[in-house]
Amino acid sequence: MKKYIADWTVKENILFNGGEYCLLKLGFEKKIPKILPGQFVQVLIEDSSTTFLRRPISVHFVDKKKNELWLFVQVIGDGTRKLSEQKKGNHLNLIYPLGNGFTLPEKSGKFLLIGGGVGAAPLLYLGACLQELGYKSEFLLGAKTEKDILQINEFGKYGKFYIATEDGSAGEKGYVTDHSVLQSADFDLIYTCGSKLMMTAVARYARERGIACEVSLENTMACGIGACLCCVEKTVRGNVCVCTEGPVMNINQLTWRI
Ligand SMILES: Cc1cc2nc3c(=O)[nH]c(=O)nc-3n(C[C@H](O)[C@H](O)[C@H](O)COP(=O)(O)OP(=O)(O)OC[C@H]3O[C@@H](n4cnc5c(N)ncnc54)[C@H](O)[C@@H]3O)c2cc1C
Ligand code: FES
Repeated sequence: MKKYIADWTVKENILFNGGEYCLLKLGFEKKIPKILPGQFVQVLIEDSSTTFLRRPISVHFVDKKKNELWLFVQVIGDGTRKLSEQKKGNHLNLIYPLGNGFTLPEKSGKFLLIGGGVGAAPLLYLGACLQELGYKSEFLLGAKTEKDILQINEFGKYGKFYIATEDGSAGEKGYVTDHSVLQSADFDLIYTCGSKLMMTAVARYARERGIACEVSLENTMACGIGACLCCVEKTVRGNVCVCTEGPVMNINQLTWRI
């Protein structure tokens, strides 16, 4: 897929939990090119004395009517803090669309999208794309506590959702893999993004039941275009760059102890 590098304009920056998360809605002067769910952008962090490399952020949503690209960001260091401080009218330089994206099914089925914390970000656009194809999705969103379950109204537009929190402050208490929906329903395909620990547990659940499963990896990245080799993941095909051959991988490709 053709890659672009361009400036986007911040239309809105909505902060959540006192600035721990932000939803950046970015506008573009031309029609946004095709972006697949699960792909990501590399954002240039300007005016920072500590952040030299671009930061990889998943495409959270593409609002085709408003010609906007949404990024949902958790502040964990200087780069993401700079993103959360963006004001309306600022420009952000992006390289996009990067990575492979989730495989979209060819026929209808029972699809479960499992997100852990900010890992849920790419699943909103995936749910929207599945709906566009006429497929229904179900979302299982997990987090430590209620305040880390975000954008549920948006997820609700594209399917039924279930919640699991570690402290029981919202939904069922426990990890996503403890949630009762996994005991009661038979899914044809699971997509997941979150911590490696969570995705390993989801992959194990899927493998035990013979359910197809794709995970979106968040290996640390630098260039985002396959040049620096810092994002390498060992797979059954040998070492691959997650930024070009991922971030989405079928669990059958992984050498994790599932
Ligand atoms: C393909 C991809 C998609 C991503 N999508 C999103 C997204 O949609 N929203 C979002 O909030 N974040 C996302 N991330 C993670 C995001 O890129 C990092 O949080 C960000 O680069 C941290 O930059 P920083 O300058 O704020 O923190 P830094 O100062 O670089 O790091 C602060 C701390 O976080 C650790 N850290 C940095 N990057 C990662 C990482 N990728 N995984 C685990 N720990 C890390 C560092 O080791 C350090 O301890 C994604 C990462 C990848 C690879
Ligand atoms: S981030 Fe440089 S090769 Fe993947």
